[in-house]
Amino acid sequence: MTAVLTKQTLTIRPLSDVMGAEVIGADLARPLDDATFRTIHHAFIDAGVLVLRDQRLTPEQHVAFSKRFGPLSIHIKDEFLYPGVPEILILSNRKHPDGRPMGFEDAGRYWHSDMSYVEEPPLGSLLHGVEIPPAGGDTLFCNMYLAYETLPAATKARIANLRARHSFVASFEGKTKASATRGTLTEEQKRKLTDAIHPVVRTHPETGRKALYVNPGFTFKMEGMAEAEGQVLLEELFAHATQERFQYRHRWKPFDLVFWDNRCAMHHATTYDTHYIRHMQRTTVKGDRPV
Ligand code: OGA
Ligand code: MN
Repeated sequence: MTAVLTKQTLTIRPLSDVMGAEVIGADLARPLDDATFRTIHHAFIDAGVLVLRDQRLTPEQHVAFSKRFGPLSIHIKDEFLYPGVPEILILSNRKHPDGRPMGFEDAGRYWHSDMSYVEEPPLGSLLHGVEIPPAGGDTLFCNMYLAYETLPAATKARIANLRARHSFVASFEGKTKASATRGTLTEEQKRKLTDAIHPVVRTHPETGRKALYVNPGFTFKMEGMAEAEGQVLLEELFAHATQERFQYRHRWKPFDLVFWDNRCAMHHATTYDTHYIRHMQRTTVKGDRPV
């Protein structure tokens, strides 16, 4: 029998006043017909963060759904890729039998937009909660459209044409000291990681809305501005953007699939009791150069 692509009946429910929506009724393990895909895509663009509960996906199904949104990128830390499915990056405190970590254990414990240090950062990431601790390990998201729109007019004018420098190496080396498990970057990994310079305010390619595009994780310098003055301005923008009133807190349940739009959201992992396992698998969809 050939598979029939039946339209799935979906309900979209907002998760907070500022961002996030839950899609109810989708089964991503099945191939999606175009109309169902369009509904999900539209909800994603609208909400900035999309939550699909109870998705029992194999790594291959996770990859197949992710690819509907564009080509996937493969992370540079190849020891943390899913064996045989390199499009999947593992974030986990689980260890291999010989004691080596299976994935990033403490990824993203700071506000960031994924891989903003590359010329063409991903449009978004799809994180699958395979094993979730009983408490903690929430992921925070903040709405960077709102962050931009609520800036004082004088600040908007000041940053209108500014560009900022983003780097993984600068950030990684700063954070490595705090982490025993993430390892170090090899010289070859470092060589592949050049800095990227992006506009401080970007226009979302699908909505046309402006969003603030600097993040505490990777943005470390304002271009064309005295060092200290640039730092003060960056800190001011970070403090503004990360206010609780712009946030949605995601409390994970097993098999949640959470898809965030890197172009208009930052996110932040939180801690948990590491006597429990938190095992997540992520795909990353390629995106455009910010303009
Ligand atoms: C990520 C990330 C946050 C989390 O996967 O890019 O930052 O809560 N994850 O695991
Ligand atoms: Mn991240």
